[in-house]
Amino acid sequence: MLYDTKDGLARITINRPEKVNALDRRTMQEIDRAVDSAGQDASVGVLIVTGMGEKAFVAGADIGELSSQTPVEGAAYSRAGQAVLNRLERLGKPSIAAINGYALGGGLELAMACTLRMAAESAKLGQPEVALGIIPGYGGTQRLARLVGAGRALELILSGEPIDAREAHRIGLVNRVVPLIELLPSAESMARTILARGPLALRYALQAVHEGTQMTLDEGLSLEAALFGLSCATEDMREGTRAFIEKRRPAFRGR
Ligand code: COA
Repeated sequence: MLYDTKDGLARITINRPEKVNALDRRTMQEIDRAVDSAGQDASVGVLIVTGMGEKAFVAGADIGELSSQTPVEGAAYSRAGQAVLNRLERLGKPSIAAINGYALGGGLELAMACTLRMAAESAKLGQPEVALGIIPGYGGTQRLARLVGAGRALELILSGEPIDAREAHRIGLVNRVVPLIELLPSAESMARTILARGPLALRYALQAVHEGTQMTLDEGLSLEAALFGLSCATEDMREGTRAFIEKRRPAFRGR
């Protein structure tokens, strides 16, 4: 895995092209460390997650590692992977999956733990685990159903068949589809748009949506009101509203 930061963006590149960027234990640990670094680094506002090469984003968890697991090891493997993806999803900073090719199994699960997904026209997305006699274990049964609805999620999970980027866009699994050559520039452009916004507002918006979708409507609305109130206590709120009135760009400081 490669990790670099530049001008407020952190980029995580899964780098096992000879194994279609499959996620082995070591790669998962490296992703976890990179997510932690991006979280701690105050200069980082947005993460981009992508795969090395033109073929694969990530073609799943490492099947070689999976094949020899006992039930107890399998459950622990699933929980450990879920924990890494939860930390990415709940980092409080937006992340964009730039899906440059196959996003299968754990690859789609990694992309779904990101805040937004952009796909190359050539990308293929799916949850093929049942073809191996297992089920998705890094959150696929839960996040896919929440993103596209249970009916479409079950079609993908039970058939194991991948879909192309256009279909993924049609069902709301990816936010945008672009030619491969434009994928990283488009993800960076989206990241820069987000970076110009108030960082505390981004954090509270992420929290409101992620936690709110697990609550009743009334609980979610209470959470929204509490976080809205909190945003009114920030310097960013004063700066953002003043800049609008003064017809200038806001200079947010995340305070
Ligand atoms: N875990 C471990 N190794 C994997 C892998 C995975 N998920 N997916 C592919 N590989 C390995 C292959 O075994 C092969 O290794 P080798 O060169 O040592 O034989 C190498 O990566 C290239 O894969 P290959 O299948 O030859 O490439 P392809 O272009 O013909 O097909 C895919 C690409 C992605 C369609 C195909 O590799 C595939 O279906 N992979 C498994 C996807 C999957 O089931 N994911 C869910 C896992 S839970």
